[in-house]
Amino acid sequence: MRGKFVTFEGCEGSGKSTQLKLLGEYLSSSGADFIMTREPGGSAIAEDIRKIILNGEYVNMCAECEALLYAAARIQHLKEVVEPALAAGKLVVCDRFVDSSFAYQGEARGLGKEFIAGINSFALENYSPDLTVFLDIPPREAFARKHGADLNDRMEKAGMSFHEKVYEGYKKIAAEYPRIHEVYCGGTKYETAERIKALLIEKGIIK
Ligand code: TYD
Repeated sequence: MRGKFVTFEGCEGSGKSTQLKLLGEYLSSSGADFIMTREPGGSAIAEDIRKIILNGEYVNMCAECEALLYAAARIQHLKEVVEPALAAGKLVVCDRFVDSSFAYQGEARGLGKEFIAGINSFALENYSPDLTVFLDIPPREAFARKHGADLNDRMEKAGMSFHEKVYEGYKKIAAEYPRIHEVYCGGTKYETAERIKALLIEKGIIK
């Protein structure tokens, strides 16, 4: 049986990495057959594209180029990593996917939904996630919690108004796609982890 595809989304500082780590520990301890991977990256070629996209010196990279590079890294990663794992019946948990492009490039960079849907049609048509967890916390709250740590890459350097637009973008697509589940993550990391686990069990993704 083909495996399930679950993606995690959230703004900068939403605690996504922490939640993925906790979920990974839980899945390992429960003997689940799974892989954890991330976008942009997850394969050698896609990781190299990631370095170009996130290079803090490329201040003049245009929004279209940025969106196309994310889409290129995405297809490579899908074909090289995600597809074989799903075909082998594994659960694939991916840190970010096409919804990041809708929120960051479509909404915050202003490219619009149609442009993003167009350049990501391969992913949208063939790899619609079985479930997407959106870690919901307004950016101001998230940044206050993060105490300004690790704000050095090109995306993280973008101003607060950019991150607020990203958040708005996520809220819009979450209202549109039933596969996206908003999980409030303003409490402790363990409370959030429990909410995520309960959701994945309820939806039949994990036992
Ligand atoms: P990363 O350091 O992995 O950030 P995070 O830990 O917040 O996931 O960097 C990924 C960056 O790329 C992040 O700022 C979000 C951005 N991104 C997009 O803008 N569009 C996309 O399609 C994807 C996958 C990521």
